[in-house]
Amino acid sequence: MRSNYWPKLSKAEINERVFSALDGNVDFYNEDIIGIPGSHLDPKVFYNDAPFLADAPFLSALIKNPNHIGCHTLGKSEHFFEGTHAIERELIDLCAKQILNGEGDFDGYVASGGTEANMQACWIYRNYFRTEFNVTTDQITILCSEDNHYSVFKASNILGIDIAMVKVDYHNRSLDTESVSATIAQCKLAGKTHFIVVANMMTTMFGSVDQVEVYTKALESQGCEYKLHIDGAYGGFFYPFTSANHQLDFSNPKVNSVTLDAHKMVQAPYGTGIFLVRKGFMHHANTKEASYVEGEDYTLIGSRSGANAIAIWMILMTYGRFGWEEKIMLLENRALWFCQELEQMNIGYFRNPNSNIVTMRAAHIKPKVAHQFGLVPDNHKHPKWFKVVVMDHVTKDHLLRLLTALSH
Ligand SMILES: Cc1ncc(COP(=O)(O)O)c(C=O)c1O
Repeated sequence: MRSNYWPKLSKAEINERVFSALDGNVDFYNEDIIGIPGSHLDPKVFYNDAPFLADAPFLSALIKNPNHIGCHTLGKSEHFFEGTHAIERELIDLCAKQILNGEGDFDGYVASGGTEANMQACWIYRNYFRTEFNVTTDQITILCSEDNHYSVFKASNILGIDIAMVKVDYHNRSLDTESVSATIAQCKLAGKTHFIVVANMMTTMFGSVDQVEVYTKALESQGCEYKLHIDGAYGGFFYPFTSANHQLDFSNPKVNSVTLDAHKMVQAPYGTGIFLVRKGFMHHANTKEASYVEGEDYTLIGSRSGANAIAIWMILMTYGRFGWEEKIMLLENRALWFCQELEQMNIGYFRNPNSNIVTMRAAHIKPKVAHQFGLVPDNHKHPKWFKVVVMDHVTKDHLLRLLTALSH
């Protein structure tokens, strides 16, 4: 039996687990809890006595409104919400070990999204380099590809860390090995000694996947200190299920942290990014001044809804490992079918064979068709590419209508 198999739970089992976790939290309705600037949702607007709530664990969690402020995989947390914190801990453990093949224990939390999770990684490594290596911020740089999501530019700007981008091949979107070596050499000349590498497990526009060893080999051969973060905001719940052997999870000792994003492929509500990191790093983002928070705060965000962790956990448990694999396989097959049709029509496209993103050359796409089908361009002002993301709602019928429109 494989070890990364999480079982599917029945609806009754899921309800039981979530409602008993909510029972493990404080009860604002019936207990004397009067010191927290938070409560259940306003009952005049959000009825807490609607009969269907007895069978609606996520909505009940929203209404009871647990605060998951802080990080619950290390030290103490607010005891008021310890029932639902346990679900978040279980979720973090599942993602790190059963999806990302980690061994041992990990830290992590449910962030507002992929942006925050990427920023949390950069924040931790900036502080780690400054504290452990006694370097200044201007000796540190973020290293990523030109296909990277723009969230790293926000991280660079907010954290005051420079950023260096390497080129990718225009056609197959893979890292340009020479550009990686040359960029690192240039950074060294500019006084950079410590690198925060952000590598992609499916880029936003192309679904391309970085070969992390291109980064690690070049950095090691040039004697640089680095920490490797994987941005799996797009691919983290997809690629591990379509690609048996890859270097972008915790089975690779060089991968130190990973971003996942359940509000993309998992169809969870917005506010369900996930940050995962090996033990021993989270404390670099501790804010000791958060003294009124039990256990202080190791996260970027502060207060956040516990309903989000519950939503992700419920979805993953509803499917189980095998159900999730089947869902992903269906999307992968549809994407493959769509590409075969594009080939017959001689329409140029890029697709990583293990991804559900198909990015077509703009030259083949009339603006009217792009608008009609909500195709997303790489650049709204000067589009060179338009992408289709084969999600649950993107059936072959939809794709066929697009193909028909493209043929005219
Ligand atoms: C690869 C990648 N990283 C990060 C993000 C940012 O995620 P969010 O919008 O959840 O902050 C995205 C969003 O599309 C993404 O595709």
